[in-house]
Amino acid sequence: MKKLRENPDYSLLAIETSCDETAAAVLRGGEVLSAPISSQIEIHRRFGGVVPEIASRNHILAIDNLVGESLRLAKVKKEDLKAVAVTYGAGLPGALLVGVSYAKAYAYALDVPLIPVDHIKGHVFANLIEHPDLKTPFLCLLASGGHTAILEVNSYSDVKILGQTVDDAAGEAFDKAARFLGFPYPGGPEIEKAAKNGRDAVSLPRPFKGARHYNFSYSGIKTAVINCVRAAERRGETVNKADVAFSFQETAVNMLVDNVVRAAEESGYKSVALAGGVGANSRLRERLRTECETRGIELRLPSKSLCTDNAAMIGVAARRYVEEGLPPADLTLDAAPGI
Ligand code: KG4
Ligand code: ZN
Repeated sequence: MKKLRENPDYSLLAIETSCDETAAAVLRGGEVLSAPISSQIEIHRRFGGVVPEIASRNHILAIDNLVGESLRLAKVKKEDLKAVAVTYGAGLPGALLVGVSYAKAYAYALDVPLIPVDHIKGHVFANLIEHPDLKTPFLCLLASGGHTAILEVNSYSDVKILGQTVDDAAGEAFDKAARFLGFPYPGGPEIEKAAKNGRDAVSLPRPFKGARHYNFSYSGIKTAVINCVRAAERRGETVNKADVAFSFQETAVNMLVDNVVRAAEESGYKSVALAGGVGANSRLRERLRTECETRGIELRLPSKSLCTDNAAMIGVAARRYVEEGLPPADLTLDAAPGI
């Protein structure tokens, strides 16, 4: 690891298999040379969500070819790799285990350090790919399928949670609400699409409005959508999906934007970053832009493809891990689904 710190232009292979995307990336000196993704969305769609066992099996089928493709695209030989990074948590246990086992074998065979990366830190440090000038500490709004939080990012090993969801994650709520509206998985992009033709015609609860903390609650608005669909069915009516999608998206987005903007103002942060799959939502990005601009807060938005799961973010986070002098993992590294 010391050698890596002394020669920061090293080549690194990063692997991500925490959910339903098999992803690999090759980085050299902080530059992302390749980051192919093999998505399983089509496979899970017919089940209405990710089936963990099927996800693990498909990671096994995809990972070796994907790593080969990543090296080919990057024009890097595996013998030139100086480190292997892998997501070891949080995520689905079986899915994580595929990436972890593969990365352990790869690092062992090449005799290079194995860097264990926390998926959430990956999302957070994805911001550095397009904004390498982003200095710590910074404030980050994280909204994914498994997590929703306002984070104070001091370093890789020092990320403080200023507020988080007390029930569902934002992405989870998008997915569940979408399912009840009859949209396919994943629901976030479907709600966004449908909301374009809707208007604010459905009244939804707004938990924690006026609260002094920075926590979120998404189960109430998800349940309100479900009740709204069921009530319409009981009346023999069909619900206006576009309107429900519009109201849901407005409420879900406002909860995120209000909290992060208030946290920035109250803690004196002048810049805010965005992370996680829900960060790909255009309405969220637009509302953040407007609110940050009026308050003089600098906003860092990763490209949409860097918000959803990918391995480039794991590679960039791994470089931070190395820079901070943290220790490599050994062959006892295990998947940590709930970190
Ligand atoms: O970060 P991510 O790719 O995986 C996790 O770590 O969870 O996030 C996936 C989540 C899903 O719930 C998906 O519906 C949501 O991000 N998502 C969106 C959009 N694109 C993805 N939610 C709202 N609008 C989008 N455009
Ligand atoms: Zn993720």
